[in-house]
Amino acid sequence: MGAYRDAWQRSVENPTAFWGEAAELISWYEKPSVILDDSAAPRYSWFADGVMNTCYNAIDRHVESGRADQLALVYDSPVTGVIRRLTYAELLHDVSHFAGVLRGLGVNKGDRVVIYMPMIPEAVVAMLACARLGAIHSVVFGGFAAHELAQRIDDAQPTVVVTASCGIEVNRVISYKPLLDAALEEATHPVAHCVIVQRPEETATLVQGRDVAWSEAMSAASAVDCVPVAATDPLYILYTSGSTGRPKGVVRDNGGHAVALRWSLPNIYDTHPGQVFWAASDVGWVVGHSYIVYAPLLTGATTILYEGKPVGTPDAGAYWRVIAEHGVRTLFTAPTGFRAVKREDPTGSFVSRYDLSEFKYLFLAGERLDPETFTWASDLLKVPVTDHWWQTETGWPIAANLMGLEPMPAKAGSATMPVPGFDVRIFDEAGVEVPAGTEGLILVKTPLPPGCMTGVWGDDSKFEEIYLSQNPGYYLTGDGGHFDTDGYLFVMGRVDDVINVAGHRLSTGEIEEIIAGHPDVAECAVIGVADELKGQIPRALVVLKAGVTRDHATIESELVERVRGQLGAVASLRQVNVVDALPKTRSGKILRKSMRAIADGVEMAVPSTIDNPATLENLRPVLRPN
Ligand code: COA
Ligand code: AMP
Repeated sequence: MGAYRDAWQRSVENPTAFWGEAAELISWYEKPSVILDDSAAPRYSWFADGVMNTCYNAIDRHVESGRADQLALVYDSPVTGVIRRLTYAELLHDVSHFAGVLRGLGVNKGDRVVIYMPMIPEAVVAMLACARLGAIHSVVFGGFAAHELAQRIDDAQPTVVVTASCGIEVNRVISYKPLLDAALEEATHPVAHCVIVQRPEETATLVQGRDVAWSEAMSAASAVDCVPVAATDPLYILYTSGSTGRPKGVVRDNGGHAVALRWSLPNIYDTHPGQVFWAASDVGWVVGHSYIVYAPLLTGATTILYEGKPVGTPDAGAYWRVIAEHGVRTLFTAPTGFRAVKREDPTGSFVSRYDLSEFKYLFLAGERLDPETFTWASDLLKVPVTDHWWQTETGWPIAANLMGLEPMPAKAGSATMPVPGFDVRIFDEAGVEVPAGTEGLILVKTPLPPGCMTGVWGDDSKFEEIYLSQNPGYYLTGDGGHFDTDGYLFVMGRVDDVINVAGHRLSTGEIEEIIAGHPDVAECAVIGVADELKGQIPRALVVLKAGVTRDHATIESELVERVRGQLGAVASLRQVNVVDALPKTRSGKILRKSMRAIADGVEMAVPSTIDNPATLENLRPVLRPN
């Protein structure tokens, strides 16, 4: 039996032994005697009586074991022209002092801190400072607008919000502070204090008594030590889109998270202490949490924090420049980034300008890696290119080609095989497991391994209701796909209302809710349609209220602006069409799937349950004009 098959088998047959062994990879104040607590199944807890601190494992222990002068974090910002390098000792200094700032503002174990930041080192410092105090961070992606931030503030109820004066999008300065002020105005939860990083590109106006400047607070602060927490105490809340209009707060614990991520870096990504890992994502997404911040630092590796884009900052050689300049061994990003590079530099001419001798692996996730991009990247880079599949909920890959354990021949279009700990199965809609080659819903047999979500913040029943109730004993991923006869997993896309736009996860339901709030709109449908660059983009079809006589083009552009203003520019909603009616089933359900098929040019039978077939036909020229 190969190393992969052996590890996977052990992980599902004897998870206690497998993860008990992996737990040795981190430092505990009190080692867990219970590895897997199944007494409250279908809810499981990992390392229930263990006591540890995630920040200690990510920083202090490396300083104590001889890595004080090794680089922990390299901030590379082509948008500001800054490169800043922090050793583990320097990171410890900043994090322990910022923990002092937070404590001075009343943050203690279990309190929440919302972090709404661009990709600057202070974002990472703030996250780790929360972990140091046993406080719970909730990072909100900087591309979200004030309304999204307000929703998260009301749900997480933070003691403090940490932000910056601005972000920089290529060459545009995006003021963050007015967004924060608007969010605090909209939110009902009162936030006592905000810490603001004043960036040289813009100085924010501070609110007396509420806001403090990062640098002033830091110069007055004293260092604070790590607070021991239970392995099962929450480390963070990360909001993600689901089928409903409201984002849900995925909760992750401390102990299971540290063990899983520490195990994953060498085994999946073949990256080891002292080596350089670059996740070209954003700290606001799960990839950023796990693979910009926690996994590389828990491992004692060097992480790259990149404030730039794959193209335009300044050119399509950005990936190769960063890899060469910082000796990156493993790059992890989204396929959309590679498609952007391919579009600008189809022959990959920029590659030859850089020394990529340290570069060994490319990992892609966030959306399905289309076979064309897979082949283009493989031919160009001559390193293994790995599509791997995961979600905010799991926090680390469910399926991958495990480069550090046993590399396998890649198959274009496949995320390779289930990662140890994940017992992946395919079921049909009726709840019956289907054989290889048959498409179905992808489920994972419980218990999920360490590192996966432990609950939904603020509503404990939601976790079971959304993820565990459809097929008892199995976790519902929300994705569809199949295994082939060699055991390779093909993930084909979401089976719910979630869409992936340039690697950003969005809910069509949430966009619909914003559109429906416009006074002229009677009803609407938002669908995700295929897009060559971004994978998917949203399109909206709206029916106006009777008696509305305003110009359709004006209403359509108001709706584009409304979504941009309330959700954020990342929604990338550019096309809204006013139509006479929406196709529905006899029970009144809008036939979004049929509309999407027409827009994507996919043949699909008209559902027999349709109430108004002519309506669907009438939409054809709108959805697919050519
Ligand atoms: N703050 C403020 N605005 C932001 C933002 C942020 N953090 N991130 C994106 N935006 C804005 C962009 O400026 C853009 O605004 P515009 O409509 O005014 O031009 C809009 O949101 C859409 O952004 P994006 O989807 O990123 O599209 P783009 O055309 O600017 O760039 C790519 C396209 C493919 C280059 C880019 O999406 C990319 O790098 N994707 C990789 C994503 C990724 O790594 N995801 C993480 C999963 S691993
Ligand atoms: P997020 O929670 O933002 O990480 O988005 C998770 C969703 O992105 C998954 O449920 C999938 O729909 C999609 N996704 C992520 N990685 C892949 C992949 N490698 N292949 C196919 N879909 C993916």
